[in-house]
Amino acid sequence: MLDIKIQKTESPKRIPQKGEPLGFGHIFTDHMFIMNYTEGKGWHDPRIVPFGDITLSPAAMVLHYGQEMFEGLKAYRGDNGDVYLFRPDMNAKRANNSNDRLCIPHIPEEDFVQAVKAVVDVDRAWVPYEEGTSLYIRPFVISTDPHLGVAPSKTYMFIIILSPSGAYYESGLAPVGIWIEDEYVRAVRGGMGFAKTGGNYAASLAAQVKAHDSGYSQALWLDGVERKYIEEVGSMNIMFKINGKVVTPMLNGSILPGITRDSIIHLCREWGYEVEERRISVDELVAAAHSGELEEVFGTGTAAVVSPVGKLRYKDDVIDIGGGKIGELTQKLYDELTGIQWGKKPDPYGWRVTV
Ligand code: COI
Repeated sequence: MLDIKIQKTESPKRIPQKGEPLGFGHIFTDHMFIMNYTEGKGWHDPRIVPFGDITLSPAAMVLHYGQEMFEGLKAYRGDNGDVYLFRPDMNAKRANNSNDRLCIPHIPEEDFVQAVKAVVDVDRAWVPYEEGTSLYIRPFVISTDPHLGVAPSKTYMFIIILSPSGAYYESGLAPVGIWIEDEYVRAVRGGMGFAKTGGNYAASLAAQVKAHDSGYSQALWLDGVERKYIEEVGSMNIMFKINGKVVTPMLNGSILPGITRDSIIHLCREWGYEVEERRISVDELVAAAHSGELEEVFGTGTAAVVSPVGKLRYKDDVIDIGGGKIGELTQKLYDELTGIQWGKKPDPYGWRVTV
């Protein structure tokens, strides 16, 4: 159990009011959580302090070699004013899987969850009320040793910041266009693809810019070896409904193990859908689209929630899916998942955690 010291801000900011557009990840609350790590001493000095800049040496290792881990989860406002988290224990576990890959010391899972709850509690007034909005929570660890040799750092900071946010995509729940990237790759097996670390996202930028410039919202990655099998999208996992079955790439080490992905697979199976987690080649996908068997495509992610995909581009093929409308299963999954997250529907799985 952490002994978290709390220092409240003396100059609280104005909290956005109902109806004000929030965007995604632009606005930050009044406070943040910080805890330091020193080799030989472990994690120490857990504290909640006013949100503000942090001081780092220009030689801090994170700035040079990217030894860092991040997570993403949300706090939701229930109709009764309560504040909920969704499966925060899964974020704590995944954080340590990323930490292992990046030689960052473990954060005890219960401390991770306690820290998230504590900082959300201090800034609970910032959890927005409007439908489709939430408080995005960004826990992250950075390596802070001032040292230019390539080695694991001996000191770290674990920080949690909070951002009241709306939909991740500007288009909201309207179907997005996805560019299947055939030049760049994001990750290879044995690399860091399964870890949530900045380097994976830095590696995605060139393709994302290319996709945007061509009028698409995001790039979809193919595997890094054969450039043949579907992996994931820039900010979400991807699922297909093909001939009545739900098909999604299996977790092979180069794909992020999404918590929303896991929850959606669970819901689909509960509802009697056959779900296949397996390799899917882009050729199979294009063939399914041309034969009319590709019924729905959607992405899943904490930020993206359940996002319908209305168009896929692969080389010279542009595939329209569902005539620009949200698929029936996509909509049902969105309603069920957000219903559980916002406390509007029963939660038979014990996923919702009250702060
Ligand atoms: C999330 O869904 O929480 C993510 O971390 C994706 C992000 C890159 C916006």
